[in-house]
Amino acid sequence: MFIRPRRLRKTEILREMVAETRLHKNMFIYPLFVMKGQNLKHEIGAMPGVYHFSADTLSKEIESCLKVGINKFLLFGVGENKDAEATSSFDFTNAVANAVRTMRADFGNDVMITTDVCMCAYTDHGHCGIIHGHEIVNDESVEVLAKMALMHAEAGADIVAPSDMMDGRVGAIRQKLDEGGFSNTAIMSYSVKYASGYYGPFREAADSAPSFGDRKTYQMDFRNPRESLKEALLDADEGADILMVKPALAYLDVIKMVKENTLLPLACYNVSGEYSMVKAASLKGWIDEQRIVMENMHAFARAGADIIITYHAKDILEKGWL
Ligand code: PBG
Ligand code: ZN
Repeated sequence: MFIRPRRLRKTEILREMVAETRLHKNMFIYPLFVMKGQNLKHEIGAMPGVYHFSADTLSKEIESCLKVGINKFLLFGVGENKDAEATSSFDFTNAVANAVRTMRADFGNDVMITTDVCMCAYTDHGHCGIIHGHEIVNDESVEVLAKMALMHAEAGADIVAPSDMMDGRVGAIRQKLDEGGFSNTAIMSYSVKYASGYYGPFREAADSAPSFGDRKTYQMDFRNPRESLKEALLDADEGADILMVKPALAYLDVIKMVKENTLLPLACYNVSGEYSMVKAASLKGWIDEQRIVMENMHAFARAGADIIITYHAKDILEKGWL
């Protein structure tokens, strides 16, 4: 008996019918960078097609996203008035807070707003926590993160997304939100976040590169897949609503492992370096951008991601790549 798998690849219709993985526009979250000011739309050098927006131009951008079916956003602030304690990170007049309020006023519940919760864009030393000498201290940092998360919830965020990797921050944020009357604000935890070279372009975008050392005492060691489960299960226990693996492309094994061993919705973050490599090669004419992007997106879904956070989201939907 001769088996012929090619029978089911014969026509487009057959291939569509037996496809094991399908993407949907509702899986995508689109990251956006916001800064203080007016009428600003600046392209980020290392991330072609990604911009810094002020609150007013952000609204125009959201409008164009809604037109193509993107209604879920992840907001990053570009630091202002940086100091050692990241004081401006929980100032309710900062760029993120203003952007959240403006978006909510302009679009109501037609948009889902997630905010990144981390101190690195607001500390003058660029680390994701409070420092004592050259040590990034955990518990003091968690207090600041909880204040920041509460401020975002007060501004109107649907979901807060801590990306700092301090221990115990999910539980502390949950408690702070509940005490503040925000028991319905969800937490999407960057549960499994590796210390990665793939964040390079983002640090230009958020002006958040550490001024000394690296992030290896808080972000994970990329040699450790089993530790991803330890982190994911801890966050689930502390009250996370959505888990995340980051970066995505080089960590498909980790996405699969976390998916198979947890019960919460799972997001993956297709990070800046992954985006910029594809963009750069495509600008050079070395690869077919649409094919590569869609192959990558299917890989995330195949590995088990329910939610894909990607800078490619607008291209995918605007250009009809789905
Ligand atoms: C802040 C933060 C980073 C990213 C998301 N939140 C950078 C970092 O940890 O250094 C990376 C996003 C990307 O590279 O696209 N902690
Ligand atoms: Zn950070």
